Amino acid sequence: MENQEYEEMVANVSEAMGKIKNKIAVISGKGGVGKTTVSVNLACSLAKKFKVGLLDTDITGPNVPKMMGLDKRKLISNGDGIIPAENQGVKVMSMAFLLEDKDTPVVWRGPLRGNLILQFLSDVQWGDLDYLIIDLPPGTGDEALTVAQMLPGITGAVIVTTPQDVALMDSRKAVNFSKKVGMPVLGIIENMSGLDCPHCGNNINLFGSGGGERAAKEVDVPFIGRLPLDPEVVSSGDSGKSFMIENPKTDLGTSFQQIVEKIIGGE
Ligand SMILES: Nc1ncnc2c1ncn2[C@@H]1O[C@H](COP(=O)(O)OP(=O)(O)OP(=O)(O)O)[C@@H](O)[C@H]1O
Ligand SMILES: [Mg+2]
Repeated sequence: MENQEYEEMVANVSEAMGKIKNKIAVISGKGGVGKTTVSVNLACSLAKKFKVGLLDTDITGPNVPKMMGLDKRKLISNGDGIIPAENQGVKVMSMAFLLEDKDTPVVWRGPLRGNLILQFLSDVQWGDLDYLIIDLPPGTGDEALTVAQMLPGITGAVIVTTPQDVALMDSRKAVNFSKKVGMPVLGIIENMSGLDCPHCGNNINLFGSGGGERAAKEVDVPFIGRLPLDPEVVSSGDSGKSFMIENPKTDLGTSFQQIVEKIIGGE
């Protein structure tokens, strides 16, 4: 990309993002810990009261459309730019809308992925929003760096972890990354924290529990809350319906609501 073209894009990002009050990135050190699940349900619950957008920055493995019930959607644009898809009250943009065939992998180097994210931030008609939730791919690679550096007014990052030592180690790395690039850390969520046995009611600590809270204390960031393992997370994700819209009154829904309130209250 030419220098001038790049500068124009950066200016467009600032202008578009200036219309969005809060920008929250959802990151993790390790894959498969529940970032997309948290992003989708956070966006859908905020959308009950606020104007909300959800940006999927996972270019090589975009999962947001499937979990939002938008997997059949294709890209639509007009003279003013790209029109975001919308479902459950949330405006959504994802690489998946550009793919002809969802099973063909996107093989792109980091800088190209970064440029596409800038385009998603600048050329999508988000309009005036209260919240933009940004779902990131795992780790602290180019996508996370692009988001942290190109959104100077970013509200902060929510870090998702699971309770195993290896995930916790990676989540501390994600905290250090955020601090290094000057992105405020809103706090850590411990996902997949214990499972209530449907037969005996006893709690099974499959991956352990409490590690997220200890890790948060160690690296001096807030602990936002725990989310249990629950088969409903999988079924709601697979069916494209947020559990926060379909079943907000369950234990899972109540735990998640407390997390949402901490995030919006603690900014
Ligand atoms: N609390 C939970 N209980 C049960 N299943 C869960 C829970 N959280 C997430 N899952 C399931 O785990 C899988 C991974 O979750 P998800 O896709 O949200 O993780 P991710 O961190 O976004 O992954 P990736 O790093 O690949 O982007 C999904 O199938 C999801 O349904
Ligand atoms: Mg994901």
